[in-house]
Amino acid sequence: MKRTITKAFALALLCSFLHAGPAVAQDPNAGRNLSANCFTCHGTGGNSVGGVPPSLAGRASAELFQTMKDFQTGKRPATIMHQQAKGYTDEQLQAISSYLASLKPGAPRVPSKAAN
Ligand code: HEC
Repeated sequence: MKRTITKAFALALLCSFLHAGPAVAQDPNAGRNLSANCFTCHGTGGNSVGGVPPSLAGRASAELFQTMKDFQTGKRPATIMHQQAKGYTDEQLQAISSYLASLKPGAPRVPSKAAN
C-alpha cells in the first residue's frame, strides 16, 4: 500500500515538472496557438473586419505586451479586455505579443456581402 502511494506521488511530481512553466518557451507554436483566441474578435491573422476591434497584426511586440499588462491591472479602461488579459501568464503574453508582431498587417477587411 505504502509503495503504491509513493509511486503515485512520484508520478504526480513528475507530471507537475513536465507541465511546469518552460512549456511555453519550449513550444515554438505557443504564440500562434494562444493567439487563435484573439482572432475570434481581432480578425483572422490579427486583421480585424472594419478595424473593430483594432487589428493586432504587425504591431510592436513590446507595445502589445504592455497594453495587455495595463488591461490586467485595470490601468487601461476596457469593456472585455480586462477579462481576456487576466487569463494569461506573462510568459504567455510574451509569446502572444511576439507572434502577433510577426504577422503581416493588412488593410482592415471590409465585411463581405452574404454570398447567396
Ligand atoms: C471577445 C472579443 C475579444 C477577444 C477574444 C480579444 N479581444 Fe482584444 N479587444 C477587444 C475589444 C472589444 C477591444 C477594445 C477594448 C475593450 O473594450 O475591451 C480590444 C482591445 C485590444 C487591444 C487594444 C488595441 C488598441 O489599439 O487600442 C489589444 C492590444 C488587444 N485587444 C489584444 C488582444 C489579445 C492579445 C487577445 C488574445 C489574447 C485579445 N485581444 C482577445 C475584444 C477582444
